[in-house]
Amino acid sequence: MKVGILGAGAMGATVIQHLQQIPCVEAIVAQDLRPPRVQELREQYGVEATADLDRVLQDDDLPLVFVTAANHAHCELTLRALEAGKAVMCEKPMATTLADARRMVEAAEARGAFLQIGFELRYSRLYTQIKEWADAGLLGDIVNTHCYYASSAWPKGIWRLQRSTGGSMFGEKLSHYVDLPRWWIGSEVTEVYAACAPNIVPYMEVHDNYHATYRFASGAVSHLTFLMGHAATFRGDPLQNIIDQQVGDGHSLGYVVVGTKGAAEAQIFGRHLRRWEYGDAPDTMTSDWVEDLTWDPAEDHHYYHNTEDQTKDIVRRVAQGLPPATPARDAYETMRLCFAADLAAERGEVVRLSEVE
Ligand SMILES: NC(=O)c1ccc[n+]([C@@H]2O[C@H](COP(=O)([O-])OP(=O)(O)OC[C@H]3O[C@@H](n4cnc5c(N)ncnc54)[C@H](O)[C@@H]3O)[C@@H](O)[C@H]2O)c1
Repeated sequence: MKVGILGAGAMGATVIQHLQQIPCVEAIVAQDLRPPRVQELREQYGVEATADLDRVLQDDDLPLVFVTAANHAHCELTLRALEAGKAVMCEKPMATTLADARRMVEAAEARGAFLQIGFELRYSRLYTQIKEWADAGLLGDIVNTHCYYASSAWPKGIWRLQRSTGGSMFGEKLSHYVDLPRWWIGSEVTEVYAACAPNIVPYMEVHDNYHATYRFASGAVSHLTFLMGHAATFRGDPLQNIIDQQVGDGHSLGYVVVGTKGAAEAQIFGRHLRRWEYGDAPDTMTSDWVEDLTWDPAEDHHYYHNTEDQTKDIVRRVAQGLPPATPARDAYETMRLCFAADLAAERGEVVRLSEVE
């Protein structure tokens, strides 16, 4: 199979490297707006590269494209690719406006075309394990989830900082972390409240902090706290493991998932995933810590952001004529939650999901 990459920056390069490991991928054509990047793609990754979008879209021997461009380009590239008859994998967030995200889903549905969005945490062992526990009934009904996420500031001058190119922090960075509770709880959100304090990162137009609370139709409640800026500036040492370098310096990403029969807790930087089981004793309800999983640093990628298995699965699905693992309509529901949180933060009031279409 021949595969195209549209907008091949850092994420595009990651996908190219995954594709290069897949036996049925015979050729890769990477496209990017910037001519110096096109040159770099040829030299560093040994792939065919071009700035000409039509060269990829008009290639009848190329059935699948990955849209890994900056967020403001997702909608147009996806619509053009769908019109050209391609199967499309588009990175999250779907688009910088909800109307554009809806156009993408509708275009795919009208054609019966393959469109999958890059929520690779649904392939990541840390989170699939919690889903397996939930599906096996070990947690009972999930009633509460809490995610705490703290990171250092984005650098100056990148497209993510601006609304016109990045959309919002919620879509760009936090969409994964509202997609997960939706997936685990298996119910739809009815209302959301979110609040943002003034930014501490002075050069960012998008918000750098959120408290967001979602209420689901099942009665479950999900809370997300996000803080950017105070975690120690991470410059990265290529000789040390990236997760180990960020432990205890303010970087944090963790989940608590509380159900009626048990609970789970994931600590990404601590490489821990734990499960509790409840019971009944004469004097109290009991909770016993029954599983404590960890993993080798070499497996971080599979536990944390498993884009590798996502890429392999998408190629396999397109090759076999199968539908996406998660329909684009489902990803659109997660995008509605992101836009609802921004709307609630802007208005300073609870937003009912029925208002956000
Ligand atoms: N799923 C994840 O966990 C994850 C992680 C990182 C990035 N991403 C997503 O991947 C996308 C790219 O992020 P990145 O870190 O690679 O950014 P990047 O800045 O490294 O790359 C973006 C590339 O898009 C190109 N581009 C912009 N507009 C274009 C257009 N109209 N046509 C063709 N090329 C265009 C730019 O020239 C640039 O090379 C974003 O949507 C981001 O949200 C997802």
